[in-house]
Amino acid sequence: MTHAPDISSEPVAFDDMQGLIRFGHGALVEAEFVLCTISDPNAAGLWLDHAPVTSAEALDAPPKVALQVAFTVAGLRAMGVDEGHIAEFSQPFQSGMSGEDSRSRRLGDTGVNAPSEWDWKGADAHILIMLYARKGGLSEWKDKTLDSSFLAAFKQIHSFPTRPNDGTEPFGFRDGISEPKIDWKDARPPAKHGREDFSNLISPGEVVLGYRNEYDEHAAAPDVNDAPPGAHLGRNGSYLVMRQLAQDVPGFWTYLDTMADGDNERREQLAALMVGRRRDGTPLIHDRHDIAGSPRKNDFTYDDDVNGTSCPLGAHIRRANPRTGDQPHRGQGRLGWLLSTLGFRRRRDKLPGRHDLVASTRFHRLVRRGRAYGSALTPEAALRPDAPKDARGLFFICLCADLVRQFEFVQNAWIASPTFNGLTGEADPLLGNRQPFCGVASDGFTIQTPSGIGQRLAPLPQFVTVKGGGYFFLPGLTALRTIARHGRQEV
Ligand code: HEM
Repeated sequence: MTHAPDISSEPVAFDDMQGLIRFGHGALVEAEFVLCTISDPNAAGLWLDHAPVTSAEALDAPPKVALQVAFTVAGLRAMGVDEGHIAEFSQPFQSGMSGEDSRSRRLGDTGVNAPSEWDWKGADAHILIMLYARKGGLSEWKDKTLDSSFLAAFKQIHSFPTRPNDGTEPFGFRDGISEPKIDWKDARPPAKHGREDFSNLISPGEVVLGYRNEYDEHAAAPDVNDAPPGAHLGRNGSYLVMRQLAQDVPGFWTYLDTMADGDNERREQLAALMVGRRRDGTPLIHDRHDIAGSPRKNDFTYDDDVNGTSCPLGAHIRRANPRTGDQPHRGQGRLGWLLSTLGFRRRRDKLPGRHDLVASTRFHRLVRRGRAYGSALTPEAALRPDAPKDARGLFFICLCADLVRQFEFVQNAWIASPTFNGLTGEADPLLGNRQPFCGVASDGFTIQTPSGIGQRLAPLPQFVTVKGGGYFFLPGLTALRTIARHGRQEV
């Protein structure tokens, strides 16, 4: 991290940033992701120079199509980016999602989730091409974009069609509801982004390299400061995480149906308890607050549910973003906050043995941009004995400026950890691989009840399996042109 207060008030350059950072492209319901290697760096440089990559500038008329481009570290090398610059990228990006056994263990990529079982690895690819279009427009857009000059430069190794975006994920829940709101105008200093009260605002530097983050510092990135003109490789870029997560939709609903003794209402309730929201997105928490940057359906905290009797402590959304879970002394002033943050005070638990969460949630927010794949299957259809077993799931995609502090922390310390939030023997009820994690069992799920005696489901089957993944760099547009010039050996 480098402290660089000089740039903190610099306006955000939307015209130099890929659009995916600012927009989810949700209205562009069709999407396809293509993984390629670079067969001819010079031809790749020419194509990249002219590629109609979509920027983050707001247009009067929303775009009908979009193109985004991201590189693996092998891709930057293939384009001729020198090792000096490569060494400035973050360590996980350099080593790749599947590059180290210890990383795989931390991410829960063991057993059937292990990289050795994957269908694809980001590390084998050079470039990720992301194509988006309105209904009916994708095929034409793909043909136009991946033209003969593209084919002369790149070799396609995988193509991932997605299911038309209808705002739901394959288990049938509304998705994309809770997103952090980026304080683009940097209107509030980071200290005001929820240091004492939960807010949904985060600094631009949590997602875009080259800007102030929640620590009031810049995330480590190549050439963000003091770079010669044209060599700003990091500035206005972001790290992109992509994981193909196969979802066993019949397995999920059949298990819940069995646990509910075939009772429809109970089955839906159990599913909602695992997610933390009902299928229509309604949160299980009712204590609504006026939270900066939060729309309706997302304006809640866990303050009034410290024991998890409304939303289980281990529910997916509570693990993925514990909100106030780590602010136990709310309402007790700065001293209380300070003592607890410094670890001198234990939470005044209603539930014995519950510890403060590890760190403040605003340092671990993710901007999610995933898309579902495979045909849709309703819970009712999934319960039929002849339910189709074809492949379906989520291309989980998120953007962040710090892979370790954001994606890897959330995946490891919150989603996969069997001791999250004072729990024992359970990981995320949707995502867990049910394998012992660091020697501790992780195949249960506890539903806390007002009596204090939790209902425990165990062993849970595995519902989600990792099929592939990689870490990518989504460069700013100036950086993209610099990478293109490297390919043409003009740098
Ligand atoms: C197949 C895999 C997954 C499914 C089915 C799934 C499903 C969901 C659903 C239904 C929601 C609630 C709707 C919303 O708030 O947008 C949600 C929220 C969320 N998920 Fe996932 N998810 C999956 C994987 C992941 C992964 C791998 C991560 C991170 C490593 C993640 C992080 C989050 C976050 C941060 C939220 C928002 C939580 C909040 O702020 O309240 N999810 N997910």
